[in-house]
Amino acid sequence: MTISTAQSHPNIAFIKYWGNRAAVLRLPVNGSISMNLDGLFTRTTVAFNSSANDSLVVNNRAETGKSLERVSSILDLVREMAKIKEKAEATSENNFPSGAGIASSAAAFAALALAASTAAGLNLSEAELSRLARRGSGSAARSIPTGFVEWQAGTSDADSFAFSIAPPEHWNLTDCVAVVNATHKKTGSTEGHAVAGTSPLQNARVADAPRRLELCRNALLNKDFEALAKIIELDSDMMHAVMLTSAPPLMYWQAATIGIFHAVREWRASGLPAAYTVDAGANVHVICLSEYAKTIQKRLSELPDVSEVLVAGVGGPARIVSASVT
Ligand code: DP6
Repeated sequence: MTISTAQSHPNIAFIKYWGNRAAVLRLPVNGSISMNLDGLFTRTTVAFNSSANDSLVVNNRAETGKSLERVSSILDLVREMAKIKEKAEATSENNFPSGAGIASSAAAFAALALAASTAAGLNLSEAELSRLARRGSGSAARSIPTGFVEWQAGTSDADSFAFSIAPPEHWNLTDCVAVVNATHKKTGSTEGHAVAGTSPLQNARVADAPRRLELCRNALLNKDFEALAKIIELDSDMMHAVMLTSAPPLMYWQAATIGIFHAVREWRASGLPAAYTVDAGANVHVICLSEYAKTIQKRLSELPDVSEVLVAGVGGPARIVSASVT
């Protein structure tokens, strides 16, 4: 048996994934586009061995229950593909704080898919890896390819995977993540996807998705910041409109979140190129060109209730760090 270590970046969605057609397979109702976040990563080691059960250690803490089950279900898929029966030990570390508002599941399941399939002796293509990562967490499908990435919704498990639309060096975009103090316990993405269809706005959001995907793809390919700013803010606002109007309603925004929206729009109107996007939390991802990142980081950190600002450029693909035969 081999032991293998893989590393992958989290990503920030410009066009968001919100809602599934098939929950277990994680087939999304719409396609999405994202950027990998350089400098932030999850590193995961998988070793198949003779133990009686799968085990999982995240940041030096043994995990049981739901998180172990979620990992085991991916290991089951790998065992099925590789025609092996051995249980596995998975050990994972993030170099970013878990409370920092960066979704860790994307990087975690991308690294797991790559490390586990490699350790099992499989040599999966990028599309196959993306499909496997998708089964653990939808957004993880986008952390497999490099740079700027599109996940096509597809029609079945076979064609719902992500691919790169441009490499990291294509455009020096930077994500300044304003971490907002939030006391409320938030509803996780998986539960959120499950109620997306209860919002009367979801059908309109999904029907309009091809148009937004095209505008976003073109803005990225043409490096048109103003066009990108408009479409990512619209897409984020539309997803939150669905969240706010679902049953139960999900209100991820805090007062500080909205304060940042106003500030970012003022900055942009006065000539500082910046745009906001928010995932299933209160923290605001402010996208800018790298030359403005220092200024934006400083301005964000001076806003009320911003505890920290993380800065990340465009990241590469999930990759194997080491693989050896034991
Ligand atoms: C708001 O991929 O975290 O960040 O598949 O249940 O793990 P699961 O959901 P997840 O959902 C991401 C939701 C989002 C938007 C996005 O990243 O596209």
